[in-house]
Amino acid sequence: MPDHPIESQAPQFAGGAADPSDPLGPAELALSASLVRASPELSATLRFISANLTEPERGAEVVAARQALVVVLDLEARAGFEARVDLGAGRVLSIERLPKTVQPGIALEEFVLCEEVVKRDPQWRAALARRGITEFDKAIVDPWSAGAYGDEKFPEARLAQALTWIRGSDDDVGYGRPVEGVIAWVDLITMRVLEVVDDVAYPLPPPTGNYTANSVGPMRADLRPLEIIQAEGPSFRVSSRLVEWQRWRFRVGFTSREGLVLRDIAYYDRGAWRKVLRRASLSEMQVPYGDPTPTHNKKNVFDVGEYGIGRMANALTLGCDCLGAIHYFDADVLTMAGEVETLKNAICMHEEDYGVLWKHTDWRTNHTEVRRSRRLVVSFFATVGNYDYGFFWYFYQNGDIAVEVKLTGCLSVGALPPGVEPTHGVLVAPQLYAPIHQHFFSFRIDPEIDGEGNTVFEVDTERDPEGPGNPYGSSYRHRTTPIRSESEGARDADPARGRTWFVAAPGRRNAVGRPPGYKLMPGADTVRPFAHEGSSLLARAGFIRHSLWVTRYDPREKYAAGDYINQNAKPDGVAAWVKQDRPLEATDLVLWYTLGVHHVPRPEDWPVMPVAYAGFMLRPAGFFDANPAMDVPPPVPMHSCCVS
Ligand code: CO
Repeated sequence: MPDHPIESQAPQFAGGAADPSDPLGPAELALSASLVRASPELSATLRFISANLTEPERGAEVVAARQALVVVLDLEARAGFEARVDLGAGRVLSIERLPKTVQPGIALEEFVLCEEVVKRDPQWRAALARRGITEFDKAIVDPWSAGAYGDEKFPEARLAQALTWIRGSDDDVGYGRPVEGVIAWVDLITMRVLEVVDDVAYPLPPPTGNYTANSVGPMRADLRPLEIIQAEGPSFRVSSRLVEWQRWRFRVGFTSREGLVLRDIAYYDRGAWRKVLRRASLSEMQVPYGDPTPTHNKKNVFDVGEYGIGRMANALTLGCDCLGAIHYFDADVLTMAGEVETLKNAICMHEEDYGVLWKHTDWRTNHTEVRRSRRLVVSFFATVGNYDYGFFWYFYQNGDIAVEVKLTGCLSVGALPPGVEPTHGVLVAPQLYAPIHQHFFSFRIDPEIDGEGNTVFEVDTERDPEGPGNPYGSSYRHRTTPIRSESEGARDADPARGRTWFVAAPGRRNAVGRPPGYKLMPGADTVRPFAHEGSSLLARAGFIRHSLWVTRYDPREKYAAGDYINQNAKPDGVAAWVKQDRPLEATDLVLWYTLGVHHVPRPEDWPVMPVAYAGFMLRPAGFFDANPAMDVPPPVPMHSCCVS
């Protein structure tokens, strides 16, 4: 009998069929599109913005037929519509017109159309010519979301602010020579340029930004191969979208809005599957820029709610960054025309060696026990205009779950005259500056630690008062405070207090008589926004005010800035929902954790930024009765060797 109470037998692989919560497949997407197209309430001029499964509600006894929520833009009606489709019955259940005050997200194909129309526009051409630029064919034009500042000249339009760069060659990143001061306001419905703002006229910076292997000069020649060999294959098993690896089990989902979605995450412990998380995904993003100049002062984008980051997922057939035995999941989406597009290999899953898992050397006996850590990685990468974001979920043998965002790609930059220093940014190349900005990522974490009734506690550490109980003035202890209702549920990271949040199953007890649970541990990136109260930014992106929000589970509350954020001046979202002040103890709750990445750019971030990593961790804290990874076998060196 081992002295650690840890299950060492692997679970039988359940395998499994499709699940009612799996993403819409190609046939379902095609059916959704054709049913919506045939609806008499809608005109023939539709743009499909998104189509995703209406996921079964928690606790629903009977799973009804699968339903889709299709969001379309009707050009004739100049309005967005939500269509609910019953896929089993093959009929449209309802069609609802969106309020005039909101626009559905911007479709990828609208980027392309917008660029074409701007490049043909005489006003835009005149503005470029005024700067001595006539290479219109070398221009690239990115539509940035318009925001909702209250001073829009064309508030009724489906707006984009289109910014321009002149590409030096096909081998540069495209963004190295900004046309400062030219902003084309475009109506994405009529695809007409409404106005071209012509502000400062600065010369184009010198050509810069080459990044392809054949354009950056000789490659370093002193790198020898490092190969990952998994001769017996990977240690995970996959059936449909169900994954089992070591003691972990979960389902891999996807939506065009959030990208990767993980569901039904459980850990096999002492002969039973124990629930950990019901659903976990990126719920919203916000990237506010701090530069007050006209070309940059309305840059604040919601990459999830405004663009649909899942739709932007890279097909990793174009280049995958992972090594070893990889399993890919495709992602199916609808194009703007309502055609099914399959993003091949959009989600990547593989194993990684992760150094030492645990180790002890008994210095008296000279006996060493060491185990190597293996982690399972599930990830996708998305390209949103100039930036590239990787979203990585890591599962560890010790019960940890880590979330990591990888920020890379190309900075959003502006031009300055020679010799001028930026006031709200950093020169990254001559006459080229990158404004200061931030990246906020809100993750929606729906826990079900050992079931559905969970409580969140804030865990701070504080010093004891001076006195007899603290004879040397150095005593400190951790203090655990329940978050009892939503009015107490907006919390900030506090590294000086070692602050974490503990999600517990209050009705259960572990081997030492405490409730089992997981703690949410903030990473290093916990910066707060600098916008003033009353700003458009905080009115729309209320979720960025705090590191953590806790809400009572409500299936309608899916995205941290609400369902429709594009041009919406007063969206709902988590900051509004908590005003209900619903009770949070021993109940079905949701955690919204927002990473705050502060970005004072550096010349080293140009022309392509080395990956910046930001993340947080979910770590068992009394969920297990001891280290759950004691049964990982010692490593067997197969190809390692000594070098001198
Ligand atoms: Co950045």
